[in-house]
Amino acid sequence: MGETLDLSFTREIGGEDLLPLFRQTYWAPKRSAGQIEGMLHNSPIVLGAWRGRRLIGFARALTDDVYRAVIDDIVVDEPFRGKGVGTAMVKALLERLKHVEEIFLGCDVKEVPFYEKLGFHRAKNPYMKLRPG
Ligand SMILES: CC(C)(COP(=O)(O)OP(=O)(O)OC[C@H]1O[C@@H](n2cnc3c(N)ncnc32)[C@H](O)[C@@H]1OP(=O)(O)O)[C@@H](O)C(=O)NCCC(=O)NCCS
Repeated sequence: MGETLDLSFTREIGGEDLLPLFRQTYWAPKRSAGQIEGMLHNSPIVLGAWRGRRLIGFARALTDDVYRAVIDDIVVDEPFRGKGVGTAMVKALLERLKHVEEIFLGCDVKEVPFYEKLGFHRAKNPYMKLRPG
């Protein structure tokens, strides 16, 4: 894909870098740069996919680094989808979390094949939530 892809857990991501990516999601289109910065500050594992200076993908995980991890907010900038960036990000997170006993993520039914290819399976137990709706 031309310029090389840089996947980084340490490169600093600004709220403004992430706004255009979250606007393309169905779960986070209205997050503000300020809220996003709080989220980045408090998330123990944050992964950026960069092409030069442009953030083209993002994912994060919340974890105790022993028993549980939740992967969240996986998004690839639309022009760069279908080129393996999402797969590379999930693989990098799974490598980072390989010692963790149980790894969860929530997704829409249409993304199930994407995660199944990466080794995930549908949980037997229901997924409970309080909000939103
Ligand atoms: C889902 C998403 C992160 C995948 O990233 P990506 O970089 O496009 O994925 P990849 O190029 O690594 O795709 C890997 C494979 O999964 C398939 N795939 C990708 N997205 C898919 C989707 N939404 N539904 C079904 N299959 C999908 C690809 O066709 C590809 O299949 P192949 O290996 O047979 O060619 C990206 O489409 C995206 O940002 N979507 C909008 C946000 C979103 O829905 N995120 C997921 C929230 S749980």
